[in-house]
Amino acid sequence: MPQTVLQASAQSAAQSQPFVHRSVLAREAPQEVLTRTDGIYVDATFGRGGHTRTLLSLLGQGARVFAFDRDEEAVAAAQAISDSRFEIIHAPFSHMVSELAQRGVTAVDGILMDIGVSSPQIDDASRGFSFRLDGPLDMRMDAASGISAAQWLASASEGDIERVLRVYGEERHARQIARAICARRTTQPFARTADLADFIARTIGRSHKDAGQHPATRTFQAIRIEINGELDELKSALKQAAGLLRPAGKLVVISFHSLEDRIVKRFFEEGAHPERLIDARIALRTQDLPEPFWQDVRRIKPTKEECEENPRSRSAVMRSAVRTARKWMQAEGGAK
Ligand SMILES: C[S@@+](CC[C@H](N)C(=O)[O-])C[C@H]1O[C@@H](n2cnc3c(N)ncnc32)[C@H](O)[C@@H]1O
Repeated sequence: MPQTVLQASAQSAAQSQPFVHRSVLAREAPQEVLTRTDGIYVDATFGRGGHTRTLLSLLGQGARVFAFDRDEEAVAAAQAISDSRFEIIHAPFSHMVSELAQRGVTAVDGILMDIGVSSPQIDDASRGFSFRLDGPLDMRMDAASGISAAQWLASASEGDIERVLRVYGEERHARQIARAICARRTTQPFARTADLADFIARTIGRSHKDAGQHPATRTFQAIRIEINGELDELKSALKQAAGLLRPAGKLVVISFHSLEDRIVKRFFEEGAHPERLIDARIALRTQDLPEPFWQDVRRIKPTKEECEENPRSRSAVMRSAVRTARKWMQAEGGAK
């Protein structure tokens, strides 16, 4: 995994490519994470830097913003920001603690995570994320790391494919699709997004239940989550973020589907109400109950106007919480 390495080729690619990302909750998210104008902040998902730029505009001269992205094109796009308070780090956000420690940072005032894929990733057919555009079946956010969707589909067992589609795609035809994929790949491996999308449509047909949704939507989501280890990344980052925040610091997470949102919601709820994790049959005195780690837990949805202007924001949920003074224990953070 290249760390903070900027490759000139990726930079020129990003400069010449027309794809743009419209930040969801563009003003609300930076405002939500802000606790002090001279603080240290992390934007764990730089994307095209919409949130980072707004955050920088709200901060004073003494502040710092460290942004992460595992996508080389996002990292290249960050070169356009010339601000001594800002640094881009090319690494997955699950490396947050170690990357910041290398820079002498062990505590921060706010962490913003806007998880999932960016519009440039989806809209660029050559990245292989979209079932609407034909391209190589890749789907890696960091194109230089891990295996592509095509390699995974060629090598995963039928049981694994079924599990991934069922769990990460909540696809009720998981078994049927997995079986069909494994039968077909023996003679003709999957290499292109359009081929896979058409194959799934032919395999399961259009459902009345999911009217308006392409039959391959859930399969593509599931494979993308698997290829990029997205849920493990999220769980790891949440715990690291909790350990990095100073008391009164804020964690703000925007997620785009229920699997992610469930993890975030549970992480905040368990930290805000640790007493709920104790067996109700154990009688504890009030003063012996564990103290909350999170307070002021909030859930914010984009406005109706934003959803109309930017359809991508419709599924977004932003959750935030303030760290209390209680110490973070390495062993806790029940985002299982
Ligand atoms: C929704 S976009 C962020 C958009 C950004 N907030 C903006 O305003 O432009 C998500 C970004 O997070 C990156 N990303 C997703 N998972 C990541 C991970 N585990 N580590 C680092 N970056 C990740 C993606 O590559 C993508 O660029």
